[in-house]
This record gives sequence, structure tokens and C-alpha cells, in this order.
Amino acid sequence: MVLTVRQVPSYLIRKGVFGKDDAIEVTPLGGGLLNHLFLARSGSKRVALKQAEGVMKFNRSIRFPKERVVTEYHALKAWRELGLKEAPEPLFLDRAEGVVCMAAVPQGYEPLIYDLLAAKVNLRVVRELGGIYGRLHSKSYQSQRLKLQFPISEAFRILKLDLYTHEYRDATPHRSIKKAMERNAKKLVRNRVCLIHGDALPKNVLVRGNRCFILDHEVSVFGDPAHDLALLLGSYYMAAMVNWPVRRRYYAAMRALLRAYQRNIRFKKLFPTILRNSLGYMPSLLFGRSRGKASAEFLDTKTREVMAMLADRIALGNYKIPQLLFRMLDKQTLLASNRPWKKEQLKGRLL
Ligand SMILES: Nc1ncnc2c1ncn2[C@@H]1O[C@H](COP(=O)(O)OP(=O)(O)O)[C@@H](O)[C@H]1O
Ligand SMILES: [Mg+2]
Repeated sequence: MVLTVRQVPSYLIRKGVFGKDDAIEVTPLGGGLLNHLFLARSGSKRVALKQAEGVMKFNRSIRFPKERVVTEYHALKAWRELGLKEAPEPLFLDRAEGVVCMAAVPQGYEPLIYDLLAAKVNLRVVRELGGIYGRLHSKSYQSQRLKLQFPISEAFRILKLDLYTHEYRDATPHRSIKKAMERNAKKLVRNRVCLIHGDALPKNVLVRGNRCFILDHEVSVFGDPAHDLALLLGSYYMAAMVNWPVRRRYYAAMRALLRAYQRNIRFKKLFPTILRNSLGYMPSLLFGRSRGKASAEFLDTKTREVMAMLADRIALGNYKIPQLLFRMLDKQTLLASNRPWKKEQLKGRLL
């Protein structure tokens, strides 16, 4: 049964989250492309409910297993057990209905992507993110228990491998890019180092001031830490294209992110390899957002072209540090007229 706003109160009373005499107010939460989300509150108690769809709303031919709410629930629990408070507290899992319920993030938090597209870059937030992901990766590093609990899931394969890496491999005419994407796909399945978020994009970060909450843990796997870094770095890099005149703010953010991450990991010797792999994983995100099924609708033609061109160049480049990526983007004067986007102007999929 697909839950509606009207059904949520009785459902949550049945689940024991609220009492039957509570006055429960329910609002649908926007943003989700694959799920039905609701916020329910009564008095000071506020919870979020997420019900999984079996197909994607932006492309109904893409199947997406409902088991992912099980992953999300267990990932939220794992974050708590690892001492990470930046994920919402899990409340219950209803496997039969494909529902996960968690504490709601306090009021006043907004998805970080809106700030990025509006050219607001807060280095404290970036450092916070580097710290959170560094601690997540470090605290779960080589845990045999988590390795068993978080296999490379079908959801991760569909959303991350098929939709980005395989799509780029199949679409590109360049043989060496095809080979690089084939290698990346193998690496993403084989490098099982620590618990990763799997969809570490700024749209899944809620921020208020310098504080962050990390949402949307449904493709969490015990996998390659470079994947989380790639999505974060890639998002700031794409935002630098969208806001090209102030691109240096995003470069500074990418450097700050890497420094904070490096400070917080205990496998410091692996850092150069993780950084290199993350730069290697970035092009499939750039391709996906400019040319793929998951492309960002608000982009104009020239920004889309630059994004696709840089995806190819980075995929061919095998870079070890981000500096050359900055220099390549500096030359794209075609983007000089780009302007920041306000939340209200944006439509469709974001970065
Ligand atoms: N625990 C929560 N508290 C407050 N808002 C939430 C919570 N979980 C989700 N949301 C809101 O719903 C949106 C979509 O949630 P998300 O888990 O990312 O779903 P999807 O997988 O569909 O993207 C978030 O961007 C956020 O605005
Ligand atoms: Mg999301």
C-alpha cells in the first residue's frame, strides 16, 4: 500500500510512534525522485517517513529494489553505533511496506545544493563534511561485521554503476574512456575498505549555519571511500562551472574538503590512492549530469558542453591532484556570463 498524507497518522499510531489521542500534522516532503516522504509532528515530536517506490519517477524504465529502505535503516543504525550523530536517529523499519521511519532533522535546515548553486560557499561547512566522511570511513575501516552487513547491493549497482559508470562507458566513442570506465566499475565493486554513504551529494546534506545532517543512506555499501569523495568533489567542481566567475571559491572548498578529510582518516598512507581514484570516478558524475539519464535540467547548453568536455579530459588524464582540473576550467571563458541560481529558479534535477 502506498501511504498518503491522510493515512500517515493512523499508520504511525499503529506503529506506536504517536498515541491515539495525539493531534498529528502531516506534510509531504519534496525533493525525492524515488520515494514518498512525509514529515509528521505532534507537539515537539517530529518524525520523517520514507516509503520506497519500485521505479524511478524521472525515468520509469529504471527499476530500483525496495530493499533499499532496509539498507537505509541499517546504515542509520551503523552511523549511531560508530558514534556519528550527523545522521537522523532511526525509529523503525517496515520491510513489508518498504518504509523507514527516522527522527526529523530540526527546523531551519536546507539542502546544501541550494547554497552551492547560489554561489554561497561556506568553508566551515566543507570542513565539517570532510570531517564527517573522514570519521565515517575511519571508524568503519576494515570492519568485518560491516563488510558482511553492507554488501555491494543491487541498488548501488543500478544507481551508481549502471546509471553513471556503465552509461558513460556505453555512450562514449573513445576507446580509452570505455576502458577506464570498465576499470572503474570493477574497482568500485572490489575496493571494499569501509562503510561509505554511496550517494554523498550536496542534495543529501541538510545544513543550517555550520551544522550538517547527512540523509538518504539507501545505497550505502561497504566499499570504496574514493566514491564518496568523488561525488563531493565533483559537485563542487560542477558548481564552479555553473558559477564560473567565482569558481575560485569552489576550488578553495575542494582543497579544504580534502585537507579536513585527510586530517580525520587513520589510513593516511592510503590518501594519495584514494584521492587519485576519486578524481578518476568524477568524470562519470560529470557525464551523467551533462549527458546522461540523470542530467541536471536547469543547465544551459554551453555549461552542459563544458561539463561533458571536461568529463572526457579528466577521464583520459589520470590525475593525481586536483590542481590541473582547476587550470582546465580556468580556460573555459565561454562560461563568463554564468550567474548564480536562486532556489526558486531551479527546476528538475540538480547537481
Ligand atoms: N529525517 C528527515 N528530516 C527532515 N527532512 C527530511 C528527512 N529525510 C528526508 N527529508 C527531506 O526529504 C528530502 C528527500 O529525502 P531523501 O532521503 O534524500 O530521499 P530521496 O532518496 O528520494 O532523494 C530531503 O532532501 C529532505 O528535504
Ligand atoms: Mg536524496
